Amino acid sequence: MFKNIPIVPDVFYVGVNDRQKSSFENIIPLDKGVSYNSYLILDEKTALIDTVDVSQATLFIEKLQSQLQNRKLDYLIINHIEPDHSGAIGFLRKYHPEVTIVGNSKTLSMLEGFYGLEDNVLEIKEEETLSLGKHQLQFYMVPMVHWPETMFTYDKTAKILFSGDAFGSFGTLDGAVIDKDMNTDKYWDEMIRYYANVMGKYGSPVQKAMQKVSALSLNYICSTHGPVWHERIPEALKISDRLSKYEGEEGVVVVYGSMYGNTELMAETVAQGLAEAGVREVAVHNISKSDPSYILRDIFKYKGLIIGSPTYNNELHPEIEPLLRKIEIRGIKNRVFGYFGSFSWAGAAVKRMSAFAEKTGWSVAATVVEQKLGLKEDNYNACLQLGREVAGMLKKEVN
Ligand code: FEO
Repeated sequence: MFKNIPIVPDVFYVGVNDRQKSSFENIIPLDKGVSYNSYLILDEKTALIDTVDVSQATLFIEKLQSQLQNRKLDYLIINHIEPDHSGAIGFLRKYHPEVTIVGNSKTLSMLEGFYGLEDNVLEIKEEETLSLGKHQLQFYMVPMVHWPETMFTYDKTAKILFSGDAFGSFGTLDGAVIDKDMNTDKYWDEMIRYYANVMGKYGSPVQKAMQKVSALSLNYICSTHGPVWHERIPEALKISDRLSKYEGEEGVVVVYGSMYGNTELMAETVAQGLAEAGVREVAVHNISKSDPSYILRDIFKYKGLIIGSPTYNNELHPEIEPLLRKIEIRGIKNRVFGYFGSFSWAGAAVKRMSAFAEKTGWSVAATVVEQKLGLKEDNYNACLQLGREVAGMLKKEVN
């Protein structure tokens, strides 16, 4: 009964939305949901590219069967075996015991490890091709985007790149699948949030993958999450390119922790200094309210970062410390950084932040503000100055 959406006349979207899960990987909030994209090519041979999360397996199989109309499924190509795309393989094998599972050596070893499947598989290598009849598929290894087995499948005939998670985005597909048939506004920030949280550590492998993509002629990019890119391919490529080079836009994220509002007032004042000095994009996050996934999104998006923390248990604010660790793990480069802190009887936050700043290799503002108890006039002015100084450094580095 399902009318699946065609990408081109013989390639169909058979993916599903997940509007039920509250967090991706049980970690990252899914306020706008997520789609698990799967694609079916109907040629002399039939091929499915990736499956979906096990929670949506029943609907997925029904959509697939509707499109196959009693034809057999010849191939399942696994671009990425993370369970949000491979969870339905067990179901699929029950409906299509004859299907040949196509993957590289790492994929096939993980297929055995996750699901105990090792029969009826086809191992492919870099740039090998698989003919479906009219459609000629070619495989490109892109390890660590963001797992070791990740690869791209390029349909040379239809000029479609099946890219796995690369160029993907959070956000369900609300009726339409291809960018030309929808308003894509809601996806751009979700694409950055997806990248920052899931791929953020792997800038260099993503850059290598981008080089392979640049040699291909593309009509469509079919990722495993979010819209199919067609008219907006240049923007999707540009976002991934910029993020994987850790290039930030002209803007500043101000993140602070505050128990009673004193450090918060410092953050407000720093933001005012930024705005006075002409920074038009200022994103202020109270770390006790903003989920870290959104803070990381903005840290990847903007070139400037200012962090403020009170001293707590002679350390940083308990939510600021793990944020610094998240930044370190992702190896974020090329940022303009400022920091400030407060304490009630013995200061430790500013010292800790200074050690962090030194490790990052970023450009660090000379103005550092440390306040004991409530904010006084000299430090109020110093907070304004910190904002102005970061604004000045930012303008110098982005222009
Ligand atoms: Fe969408 Fe890396 O799985």
